Order: sequence, then structure tokens, then C-alpha cells
Amino acid sequence: MADYIKMTITKPDGSEQSYWTQPGKTVWEAMEIIGWDTMGSCGGMGTCSKCKFRMSGQLSQLSDSEREKLIPEEIRNGHRLACMAIMEGDFDLYIDYWPGESEAKTDLFEHQSKTGGNSHFFNKEFFIPGLEKETPVPIYDRIHRALNNYRMELTADNLNYLGGLDRLGRPAMELWATIIDGKAIKIGRQREKILGLALDIGSTSLFAALIDLEDGKITAIASHGNMQRIYGDDIISRVNYVREHQDGLAVMQRILINNIDSMVGKMLAESGANPTDIYKAAAVGNPVMMHFLAGVTTAGFEKAPYTGNFSDELNLSLRDLGLNGSPYARITILPQLGGFVGADTTACLLTLKPYLDKTFLLLDIGTNGEIVLGHQGRMWAASAAAGPAFEGGTITCGMRASQGAVDKVIWEENQIDLRTIGGGIPRGICGSGIIDLLAILLNNDFIDRQGTFTPKAESVFSMKKGKRGPEIILNHNQRTSSNDPLVFNQEDIRQVQLARSAIRTAVELLMQKAGIQARHLQNVFLAGVFGSYLDPANLMSSGLIPGVSIEKVRNIGNAAAQGAIMALLSPEKLAETDRLKSTVEYVELAALDEFQALFLKNIDF
Ligand code: FES
Repeated sequence: MADYIKMTITKPDGSEQSYWTQPGKTVWEAMEIIGWDTMGSCGGMGTCSKCKFRMSGQLSQLSDSEREKLIPEEIRNGHRLACMAIMEGDFDLYIDYWPGESEAKTDLFEHQSKTGGNSHFFNKEFFIPGLEKETPVPIYDRIHRALNNYRMELTADNLNYLGGLDRLGRPAMELWATIIDGKAIKIGRQREKILGLALDIGSTSLFAALIDLEDGKITAIASHGNMQRIYGDDIISRVNYVREHQDGLAVMQRILINNIDSMVGKMLAESGANPTDIYKAAAVGNPVMMHFLAGVTTAGFEKAPYTGNFSDELNLSLRDLGLNGSPYARITILPQLGGFVGADTTACLLTLKPYLDKTFLLLDIGTNGEIVLGHQGRMWAASAAAGPAFEGGTITCGMRASQGAVDKVIWEENQIDLRTIGGGIPRGICGSGIIDLLAILLNNDFIDRQGTFTPKAESVFSMKKGKRGPEIILNHNQRTSSNDPLVFNQEDIRQVQLARSAIRTAVELLMQKAGIQARHLQNVFLAGVFGSYLDPANLMSSGLIPGVSIEKVRNIGNAAAQGAIMALLSPEKLAETDRLKSTVEYVELAALDEFQALFLKNIDF
């Protein structure tokens, strides 16, 4: 076998891109490594059937288990499962979509970002006298005297540079000091860029913003799929990988750092800035991601009581983590609320200050739903293991909210109409589309309380029997990118019922803790990508949360990133996150006696 082989990817516009890779690995591994989204949701286990691509060239023979996952027409057309096809020599792979995996998250943020200046980071112009022959004073001492209101923290490199500027007979010199949090950390001849980095590290996608710390403006944003998903869609699979592999933690951390590094590189190029212009960073995300980022063991998340090695604010050197930045740059991981409720939720709460004394519900629904209930100044937080159904995982035609995902399903004149992100032909259905569909099925009695398709559904939809039970065909008049029908079947409904019950049960248990009922809620905030595409009316119809009037429901977009930026720009806001952490009471739902019974009860609609 050759040492290296060529993988040629043909994009939807017909253009080609070639990569060198090693034979003996699966196509899925090669794609994940170079950053192409395979759309698989089972971590390459060969169970979700979503990493289907047309391929030709030197690949392993179709195995029986791969054959089972493909329909005869797909086999005839050369479709393979990327995670089962092993590369043996040069081959071609045809992609019918562009991998804009995290565009949704970026758009969401762009529309909602706010800016504002602050006085903690600035450039200060000053003058020092020249070097005198009779009473020579070292240049550092002259600078120190001119900046006597600031603590001096210069590097030896900076002092050597300044020494090179100084000479006898040179008159007074104009200099610029970079001031960060009351410390003069760099002196030069010109004004420097002072940038900060805000990071929202999700288990599915990462988001970064480069902020001008002087005026608080966002200079660039970027997003990236979290390539850790090679090791599983859910965080528990990744925690297990770390447990089973000696270098597992280093692998997880390295992937995150590489992903962040590529976002930072892109943003710096866009802004015409240097890596050393980054002086500060703030990171939010779920506790497992925060441990991976810090390179701290995740052993505490393997079993109850699911406690990591840290949950208070943690400060680390950016360079020690392997990220580019000024030698002074520190990264602050915001406080986490407990269990699987992380710094992203703390950051969301930071953006909701005017509402924290009211009665409110905050929901961030992903593989791990994070929920906070506030009532009369007290707050309770819990996480709900919803599973990946609302991110498209475990759903036959499910996918994440990205280009080509059906994010809206409309019921008009006894017909289904599908809208996609980006407006193109559908590739699959994402969480908000699934909720719309569920609401349609329930509101029109196409499914009963147990979630079973009714005879009425049979009279309206084209139905067939699939491997996962009876299924309805959604794209009756619209073709999909793969030409496969877009189906929703009995097992998909079951998966949604389980995910829905996990969230609903968590909300009900928190309401019990607070001694309130749904009618007392003054606001319901939906954070994250899922919440932002969601139709509040359908959210209510699906019963994901107990009924409140629709006008109380508000999408708050990528509030976690917004909170990270607030903490980055303001030490006062950062201090507030500590206070939030001490106010919020973390509730371990599975430890409550009533959890199991309520979960089972809530499976029915
Ligand atoms: Fe290949 Fe799931 S079947 S990633």
C-alpha cells in the first residue's frame, strides 16, 4: 500500500480540492481531520447512516453491515458510508452541500452584538526626558517616573527594544504605553492594538469574537465545528474516551486548541492584527469543555455526583495553553454553576440582569439542556440529558442547524411546506423544524398522546413502512439534496418524546423547587441556536415547556458569547459572575425521588 494517497473532493459547484492522506483509515476520519463536516451523529460508529457520500476509486469492498444501511439505488450510484469505507488508494468523493456548519451561530450573533467602550484597556501617550551625560538615568526609570500612576510590568525584550531607542543627546521622546487593568505592560513608539478574545466553546460548535478592548467594538467573528465530535456527539462519549486512553485528555485539549487557533488566525488576518495584540481572553462553555480547554481531568464527570476539578473562575496563561497571544495574555474561564451546567449559562445570566429579580425561565436546549429558573431573586439551575434529538442526532433525517437544514415546517391547506436555512433544497431537518413538525402532528391529531401515528395521518400523508416503523414523507413536492425522501418515522417520534420529557421534567421539577406554576412565569428566555430558530407557538404546542403565553417567550440568541464579551471588557461584570454563581442553587435532578416517575409521565404528549 502506498504511504500516502490522494483524496479528491468535488464540491457542489464542480470545483475540486485534493488532500493527501494515509491509507488504511476510514474516509470519515480523513474528512473530520481536514475539517469537512461528515454530518454523522454517531461518532463514526456506523449506526446513524448520516455520513453517506458518493465515492469512486480505491476503497474497501462494501461490507454486509454497510450494505444494510444503504438502499439498492444508493449502492448502484456509488454511495458509501464514510465511516465504514476504508481508503486503500486514490479516490474521489462528491459533496452536494457546502459545509457551513456553524454559520447559523455566527449570523445569530452578528445581529445581536452590542458594543461599548471601557476604561480598563487603553493606549496612553507620554513623554520622557532625553538621556543626560552628567546625571544619566536609565530609560526604564525615566518611563517609570512618567507613568507613576501605573504598575510597571515590562518584559526584558521590551526593555532591550527601548534601550535601542535611547542615546546621548537625543531630546525628549514621545512614547505610547499599553495599559491593561492599571498595569503598563508594553512601551513603544506607536499606538498598539489592544485586542481581547471571547470564546463560546460548545460541544457541537465553537464561536469566537475578537474585540477591540479600547472601544469595546467587535473587530471580527468566527465559528468552527468542534472536531472533538470524531469521538462522539455527546460529551459523555468524549469523557469516556479520555477515561479509556492514556493520552485522551491531551487529544481533546489539542483538538480544541487547534480549532480555536484556526478561528483566531482567520480573525487576525481579517483585522490586520498580530497574535501579540491579544492581551486577554474569556471562555465560556459547558463544564466538560472548560475542563478539556484547561487540560484538567474530566474523571469527575464519569459518574455521580458529576463534579469536576474546578467550578470557580479559573485564570490561565494563554500561551501555556498553546494559544497565540501577548506574553501577558491570560484567559479567564468564567464560573460554572455545577454538574453539567456551565460557564455558558453563567454568561447568559449576565446578559439578563434586568430580569433576575423577576420570575423567569432560561432554556438552552442542546444535547445537554441547561435550565435556570428564577423567582423572587433566588435561582435554581439543572441540566437535562435531552440527547442529540434536537440537534438532529438519532432522527433519521435529522441534522444540525446549518445550510440546507429544514428549520421551519409550515402546515397550509392540508400540506406540509418546508423552509430551509439559506433557502436551498433540503438536506435534513434540524431542531426547530422537528418542533414545528411535532406541533403540526399533535395539533391535527396525526399522532395520539402516546405518539403513535393515527389513521388520520394515513389519510393525509404518503406513508410507508420503514426500518424504524411507519414513516411519513415530508418533501412531497420538494426534492432533497440527495434525492432521498425526507421522512419522519415512529422511532423519530420516540426519540423526540424522550428528549422532550427530559426538558419538561427538569422545568417542572425546578418549578416545584421554587413553589410556582407556569402561569407565574413572567419571561421565558430561549438561548442558543435551537432557541433562536424556534417558533414559540409551536414550542408551546409541542409541550416542551408548560404553557405560558407566547408574548412572554423571547429568543436571546447567542447570549453566552455576549456574556463572555461583557466579562472580557469589564472586571465589574466578571466579578458579577462570581455573585451569580453563589446565588444559583444547582439541583441534581436524577437524585430527586420524583424524577423517574415524572420523566415517564411526561413521555406521553
Ligand atoms: Fe457514519 Fe454515523 S454512520 S457517522
